[in-house]
Amino acid sequence: LRAEALQELRDVAGPQQLNDLRVKYLGKKGALTEILRGMGGLSAEERPVIGQAGNEVRAAIEEVIETKQAAFQQAETENRLRAETIDVTLPGKKTSAGAVHPLNKVAQEIEDAFIGMGYTIAEGPEVETDFFNFEALNLPKNHPARDMQDSFYITDEILMRTHTSPVQVRTMKAMNGKPVKVICPGKVYRRDDDDATHSFQFNQIEGLVIGPNIRMSDLKGTLLQFVQLMYGKQAQIRLRPSFFPFTEPSAEVDVTCVKCGGHGCRMCKHTGWIEILGCGMVHPRVLEMGGYDPNEMSGFAFGMGVERIAILKYGIDDIRHFYTNDLRFLSQFVRM
Ligand code: PHE
Repeated sequence: LRAEALQELRDVAGPQQLNDLRVKYLGKKGALTEILRGMGGLSAEERPVIGQAGNEVRAAIEEVIETKQAAFQQAETENRLRAETIDVTLPGKKTSAGAVHPLNKVAQEIEDAFIGMGYTIAEGPEVETDFFNFEALNLPKNHPARDMQDSFYITDEILMRTHTSPVQVRTMKAMNGKPVKVICPGKVYRRDDDDATHSFQFNQIEGLVIGPNIRMSDLKGTLLQFVQLMYGKQAQIRLRPSFFPFTEPSAEVDVTCVKCGGHGCRMCKHTGWIEILGCGMVHPRVLEMGGYDPNEMSGFAFGMGVERIAILKYGIDDIRHFYTNDLRFLSQFVRM
C-alpha cells in the first residue's frame, strides 16, 4: 500500500488531484483507514506490529502530501506574481490640461496693470436698475443718448447692465464722499446682432478716480502708463473729443497701431491709430448724485472693452472666436 501510494503521489499533477489522493488513502473511507479499522479482529501479538506499521505508512504519506502541497502553493504564488507584474516603464495615457481663457488672461493683465498703480477692484450686479445704469449717470428717461446702448429690459425699471459705469455710482455712494480709486471689471449686455465686431454680451473694465484736484492730465498720464504696460514702451496715445452724458469733457482714446507701429496699415485703415476706450472727467451732476461736492472733489473715469484690447493685442479677426470654444483657437494661448 505504501509503495502504491507513494508511486501515485509522485506523478500527481495539481492540488485537486493531491486532495483526491489524500481522501483515497487517509480519508474516512480511505485504504489505510480501512486496514486500521480492521485491527479489532487481530490477535494481541499482531495488533501493535500492524498498528505501528500503519502509523508509519500514514506518516510517510502525510509527509509527501505536505511537501507536494507546499510546492503547489509556491508555484501558484509565483504564477500570480508574474501575471500581475506592472511594467512601470510603459508610457502613461496623456490627459490634456485646460488653460486660462484668453479673455480672462487679458482681463487679469489689465487688472494687474491698474493694481500696480494702486487701484482696488469693485464689482456690481449684472442685473441692474434703470437708476444706476442710466439715471444716476446723467441719462434721464427719454434722453436720446440712451439709444447709444440698446438694452435688454427685464421690467420697466430693471435691465441687464449695458456698461460697467453703474458700478461707479454704487462705489461713490458706498464711499460716502471719501476719495476713490477703483477699476470695475464685468460682463455687460447690449441688444446687438452678433457679427465679427459685435456681441450681445461682452466684458468691460471701468476705471474711476475721485479726489481733491484730480485733473485731465492725471487721466492722460494714467492711460499712457496703462497702454505702455499692455502694448509696450513704444505705444503712444491720443485723445479725441467725444461725448458721454456722464463725463465732461469726454474723449475717445486711440493707441498707435500695434501692427504697423503708427505708420499706417489695413488694420488701422492707414491712420496709424486705433480706438481703444472712452473716458472723461466725471460730470459734476454725476458727482453730486454720487454724494460728492463738485466744488471740493473732481474725478476721471474711463471704460474699455476687454475683447477689443485682446483683439488688438493678439491680432484676432472675429470677436466670436472668444465664445465658440474652438480648441484650435483657444490652445494658441496656452503658453502665451
Ligand atoms: N460707459 C461707456 C461705454 O460703455 C464708457 C465710458 C466709461 C466712457 C467711463 C467714459 C467714462 O461706452
